[in-house]
Amino acid sequence: MDTQTILKKQKQYLWPSYLLYYTEPLALDRGEGLYVWDVEGNRYLDFFGGILTTSVGHKHPKVTERAKAQIDKIIHTSTLYPHENVVALAEKLAEIAPGDLSTSFFTGSGTEADETAVMLAKAATGYQEVIALRHAYSGRSTLAMTLTGIAAWRIGGTQIPGVKHALNPYCYRCPLKMTYPSCGVACAEDVEEVIKTTTSGRIAAFIAEPIQGVGGFITPPPEYFKIVVDITHHYGGLFIDDEVQTGFGRTGEHWFGIEHWGVEPDIMTMAKGIANGFPLSNTMTTPEIASKLTGLTISTFGGNPVSTAAALATIEVMEEEASPEHVAQVGALLRSGLEKLKEKYPLIGDVRGKGLMQGVEVVADRESKEPSPKAVNELFEATKARGLLIGKGGMYGNVIRIAPPLTATEDHIAEALDILDHAFAEVQERY
Ligand SMILES: Cc1ncc(COP(=O)(O)O)c(C=O)c1O
Repeated sequence: MDTQTILKKQKQYLWPSYLLYYTEPLALDRGEGLYVWDVEGNRYLDFFGGILTTSVGHKHPKVTERAKAQIDKIIHTSTLYPHENVVALAEKLAEIAPGDLSTSFFTGSGTEADETAVMLAKAATGYQEVIALRHAYSGRSTLAMTLTGIAAWRIGGTQIPGVKHALNPYCYRCPLKMTYPSCGVACAEDVEEVIKTTTSGRIAAFIAEPIQGVGGFITPPPEYFKIVVDITHHYGGLFIDDEVQTGFGRTGEHWFGIEHWGVEPDIMTMAKGIANGFPLSNTMTTPEIASKLTGLTISTFGGNPVSTAAALATIEVMEEEASPEHVAQVGALLRSGLEKLKEKYPLIGDVRGKGLMQGVEVVADRESKEPSPKAVNELFEATKARGLLIGKGGMYGNVIRIAPPLTATEDHIAEALDILDHAFAEVQERY
């Protein structure tokens, strides 16, 4: 099918609520490494990896072979039967996870992993209330949308009682209109204020992403998590670390994003990059906390033998060719290139992130910091026309999210920066 036929059928047979990038949405046909091709055969350098998910590049031979071999044996078992791949993956994750996190419950999506984490925290603490952060994103179930802190992602308006939102550490647009470091990370104290004023005073959990993903790669100051995790524990809660975007070396140096911030989670969720695109998610915790979840629970697709085979291969590939050290190294190159673009183009208000998770906040005017989602849309068209795929996010839709597969090389980074440079030059002229 050509693009036009696909778009026509999309319109006719799929819900209009599908969010599609680009004026003319891109119908992808195949991928290899860092590149994807559309159905007309046009090639693109993929710097969004299907929302930070194709973690070791498209069609990686090791991942594909392991998945194919598993398909030939058995595709589905359900969580009712133990499987070799599932226990091997859980063992591997226990090895690379921070702190005492050594036991897993596998599901099929990030939403389910976050649901499972909150369910566990309530069971383990006996408390019901949960603190989340403004600008957070947790998924598309009713609970996950309630935890989410961006109105546009909370379709329907129905909310689960007992979830409260604290200020987020958004230094570029400080919710307290203060400046780091003279602010003393005052936003972190808001977690305590919210607990004391809007809950019963005892909480089940505080849930947060080490770097807010959909929120626009909002990166907290180094002290933030230590303060909020201490507050969480003081009020009886567990810290749920949502690593759906930041996990598996994405932020460089460490396997998980939270390790940058010097705290240990009580519960940790992961999905996206875990299996290079095969559906899989996981909720990890300590044996003691896990033992508190009693009653019946299953996940039909959770820990699918094919997805777990792919995850084992994906982690092996990361260890061999896309380690957290490699990510830190190429991530630093990407970051310095983006900082140079910031010097050239006033449209760039802020560059932030870690490793291969870099955000560029686009503003119409640096003084007023007025968000410019319009310029972001123009940059999307300008980069697409030059063969580069990028992502976007942020409360105002004005943050470019750059997150290539972790196998990106220096050459890939140089190619992307060159295209971004030309795209910014074209769009900046109109402002
Ligand atoms: C931090 C975070 N948590 C949870 C989710 C939900 O994951 P999924 O879309 O797999 O349900 C996402 C998805 O973008 C996410 O970014």
